[in-house]
Amino acid sequence: MANAILHKKRGLIFGALDERSIAWHVATRCLEEGADIVLTNTGNAIELGEIRKLAEAKGLPLLACDATDVNQIRVLLKKTQELLGGKIDFILHAVAQSVNLRRHLPYERVNYEYFKRTLDISSLSLHKILSIAMAEDAIAEYGSVVTLSFIASERFMYGYNDMSDAKALLESIVRQMGAVYGEKKKVRVNIVSQSATHTKAGDSWDEMEYFYKYTEDLSPIGNADADDCADVCVTLFSDFMKKVTMQTIYNDGGFGRTMLTEKVINSYRKSFERKDD
Ligand SMILES: NC(=O)c1ccc[n+]([C@@H]2O[C@H](COP(=O)([O-])OP(=O)(O)OC[C@H]3O[C@@H](n4cnc5c(N)ncnc54)[C@H](O)[C@@H]3O)[C@@H](O)[C@H]2O)c1
Repeated sequence: MANAILHKKRGLIFGALDERSIAWHVATRCLEEGADIVLTNTGNAIELGEIRKLAEAKGLPLLACDATDVNQIRVLLKKTQELLGGKIDFILHAVAQSVNLRRHLPYERVNYEYFKRTLDISSLSLHKILSIAMAEDAIAEYGSVVTLSFIASERFMYGYNDMSDAKALLESIVRQMGAVYGEKKKVRVNIVSQSATHTKAGDSWDEMEYFYKYTEDLSPIGNADADDCADVCVTLFSDFMKKVTMQTIYNDGGFGRTMLTEKVINSYRKSFERKDD
């Protein structure tokens, strides 16, 4: 284990709900790389999801916390340090939810109370975690914080709704807090822009099945799955990425940089040929 890249590192993982969750895959990879970790999710998610199974199978502490509630975050950071025996070396923020998206409300007719909740859960929660961690000096020097985005933060994407705004704000918070925390404590803050991935959050979007196929065809290397994302996160947590901060890192098989692939042309060619028959 001494050669493992997270040997002796202490981590806090937000957002594992079930086996499909990106955070579940990240937690598992962190353990393989020698880290000691604490898992957290909301009380509801702990009751209704499968995170308890992961905690019990791996013997991990599991703490309830609503990531929008500053008092709960304060307690969580304190307890995590007590359980792990020191300052936190890395945090994964894999937290998102949009009721507007889940209820299929069109973007021009969203419910504003839901919209505020989307931003609070999916974006401001990261600000709150970092702000409290900074005030309480909860993260070790050169610690690493990683959160997760999606390319719809930068481009219009049909059906992604207020989550596009939430991801744009989240990316901005990464840059701003990354600068402040970096100067203060050399803490790194980065965001991984991940391919479409089949999870509870991902599949709550109606058009996911079509989009998944579309991005697979338009990515030179193909979609990145949750395990690929976990590898990137673990590398970002490690000391190999000590000077990488405030970055959006695209783990998307090249999708974000691609206009056209041979696969897409071939599928159009086939559908044109069918019409000609
Ligand atoms: N699945 C995809 O296609 C995809 C693509 C790019 C980025 N992402 C991002 O990855 C992250 C993880 O999502 P996932 O796809 O693994 O889905 P998921 O549904 O497994 O995870 C979302 C998590 O957010 C948690 N959560 C919701 N409200 C919370 C709150 N108030 N406090 C604390 N936790 C709360 C949920 O309980 C759940 O565990 C999200 O930020 C998501 O937007 C997902």
